[in-house]
Amino acid sequence: MRLDGKVVVVTGGARGIGRGIVERVVEEGGAVVIGDLLEVEGAETVARIERAGGQASFRRTDVTVPSDLDALVALAESTYGKLDVLVPNAGIAVAGDVEQLTVDDCRRLFDVNVIGTWLTCKQALPALRRNGAGSIVITASAAATRPLPQSGLYGPTKAAIVMLMRNLALTAAKDHIRCNAVAPGPIVTDLYHFTAEQEQAFVDRWTPQVPAGFLGTPRDVANVVVFLASDEARWVTGSVYPVDGGFAG
Ligand SMILES: NC(=O)c1ccc[n+]([C@@H]2O[C@H](COP(=O)([O-])OP(=O)(O)OC[C@H]3O[C@@H](n4cnc5c(N)ncnc54)[C@H](O)[C@@H]3O)[C@@H](O)[C@H]2O)c1
Repeated sequence: MRLDGKVVVVTGGARGIGRGIVERVVEEGGAVVIGDLLEVEGAETVARIERAGGQASFRRTDVTVPSDLDALVALAESTYGKLDVLVPNAGIAVAGDVEQLTVDDCRRLFDVNVIGTWLTCKQALPALRRNGAGSIVITASAAATRPLPQSGLYGPTKAAIVMLMRNLALTAAKDHIRCNAVAPGPIVTDLYHFTAEQEQAFVDRWTPQVPAGFLGTPRDVANVVVFLASDEARWVTGSVYPVDGGFAG
């Protein structure tokens, strides 16, 4: 198994892509600590993993609050003895084109997606160093490189964390810490708070733009995260992996 004995922290792991990552990590033998705002979904995810014989813990965490992140990392070390892998995945979307969005929208998006991702890395780096090595896999987006309608500020937040990842890859390499990102294309999740009708419209709109001919799933993203987290990727750092059926071109 690719992640046998590894301890993995996943933010935003209570649902959606994050939960897909949590499930794949456990299938590959890892123990997972989930940090998310959603306590009910977090507890359900842990219960499902424990029923299947896996190891998982949850702590309510706001990724914009440093003390929450410190407590999340401390939970990983106190429960499982170390931290090997960090997956800063929590993120939000606020739909709108550049001129439609407000200062408040901008602050919310940058607060969670950029400051939250940066803080997650910053607060966890000491634990990865104590471990002697580590892998960080950030969830960026195809919107980091491809301008998309209604993503006027969401795309820029994802472009910012790609550059954050590359800077971190440069400076943390001496401590045997790798840092990479995945850039998913359109996937149906609760990110967009869809009604059933809106969900169908999303599928109909984006499927023809994916050369592979179908939209991806959280598991498609998780498969690449597992590779980047594992020792198989020991010479991979500073890279962005599109997981999008060719969507970003
Ligand atoms: N769904 C897509 O099409 C898509 C495409 C590319 C990238 N992404 C990215 O994937 C990641 C996961 O999104 P998703 O599609 O699974 O959506 P989602 O809304 O289902 O999951 C996001 C999770 O992050 C959590 N979260 C939000 N703000 C938080 C905070 N301040 N602190 C802690 N947790 C917080 C949410 O509670 C939720 O569980 C996000 O970074 C998103 O930008 C999604």
